[in-house]
Amino acid sequence: MTNGRVPFDPGHSQMTKPLMRLIATLLLFTIGSVQADQPFEPNYDESLIPEYTLPDPLVLIDGTVVSDAETWNTKRRPELIQLFEEHVYGRATGKPEGMHFETLDDEPQALDGNATRRQVRIYLTEGTDGPFLDLLLYIPNEGRPVPAFLGLNFYGNHTIASDPNIRLNLNWMRAKGAGVVDNHATDDSRGTSASRWPVEMIISRGYALATMYYGDIDPDEDDDFQNGVHAVFDKQVTGELAEDTPRPLDAWGSIATWAWGLSRALDYMTHDPDIDGTRVAVMGHSRLGKTALWAGATDERFALVISNNSGCGGAALSRRAFGETVGRINTSFPHWFNDKFQEYNNNEAALPVDQHELIALIAPRPVYIASAVEDQWADPHGEYLSGCKADPVYKLLGTPGLPSESNDLPAVEEPLKTGTIGYHIRTGKHDVTTFDWQQYLDFADMHLERNP
Ligand code: GCU
Repeated sequence: MTNGRVPFDPGHSQMTKPLMRLIATLLLFTIGSVQADQPFEPNYDESLIPEYTLPDPLVLIDGTVVSDAETWNTKRRPELIQLFEEHVYGRATGKPEGMHFETLDDEPQALDGNATRRQVRIYLTEGTDGPFLDLLLYIPNEGRPVPAFLGLNFYGNHTIASDPNIRLNLNWMRAKGAGVVDNHATDDSRGTSASRWPVEMIISRGYALATMYYGDIDPDEDDDFQNGVHAVFDKQVTGELAEDTPRPLDAWGSIATWAWGLSRALDYMTHDPDIDGTRVAVMGHSRLGKTALWAGATDERFALVISNNSGCGGAALSRRAFGETVGRINTSFPHWFNDKFQEYNNNEAALPVDQHELIALIAPRPVYIASAVEDQWADPHGEYLSGCKADPVYKLLGTPGLPSESNDLPAVEEPLKTGTIGYHIRTGKHDVTTFDWQQYLDFADMHLERNP
């Protein structure tokens, strides 16, 4: 149990000190009953959005206006990173010293001979018994070194294609996944998320695809940060904690941990001679879209960043409180953000940042934000407005920014993809579709020139 984090999970009570357990149980009873009386009702009405004022990305905390690139790079950017670490995602650790790689599979005749399938184990500590991440890559056989897309997947690398040679992930996973039995994948889950990963299309356009299961980094459950890479690296972030000392409010939540894992995958990719590590786009859907944005903000080696339906805590402005809110996300998923973020439940106006500043942290590198009409929970308009409100930073840094002057949502399926901030809203639900990928590939063609 960490500071103010409810609901308490009795399944992990043996890990919690008795006093903390008592407090947690009392909180659960009181807050739980209040919540039961007041079920969360999302607001889907633009006219009911509270009046709000966004923090200005181009004004330092001390009030100084940022009017040149140097002040942005040396003062405001570091200040914003720190604010997001402190109030939203938490601080992460650095690159582990003993990290090393092992190639487990290298098949040059994959995808009808057009690509090489490579499976690489990223060991995070010196030996081979520490935590490891399994990265799957499909790399075009022509035009190397190639640019690449990197993204985390929800249920194991074996779900992204039906190729029986992809290693079946044996780690814990959420029960919701297709073919998942007792929280573990079975062969029935092979290829079940293939529609979200059009490997052939990506390869035919000259890009590699690299993917990794997010649960290899940190299992997506509220377990008081005992497992995943926390088990090994948490102390580097929190320091040695005395008995009954709560976890620091700014210690990394799971999104920051997953983003850290993306940086470790990029460490491998910059080392693989078949990939051009200076042209890697990081992409993610939903919670993994929030993760891709934070990875892109914190790791400037990512050349392009893509947010697919990332919503609250991702591209959507928190102050609009449209669809999912800060209070709601912190209640359903208390482990995703740092503990300090809980203080902004129903109190978004007090946040010293908002999500347009997350987008601005990617500048001047290209960023693409995608929404879906039936994904109102993620607040498409709030996702678009983040791009609009990040635009002044992109312009200050000498890039075209968003190719629209309007704060109104663009027409459905009319992508804005000619600038440095891309955006589209498509028909359909919360998902990743071929239409989405077509836009990402076009956007990448423009910004990650192949064989420059
Ligand atoms: C839930 C959550 C969202 C998240 C999504 C997902 O719907 O409320 O914030 O983006 O799960 O990751 O699938």
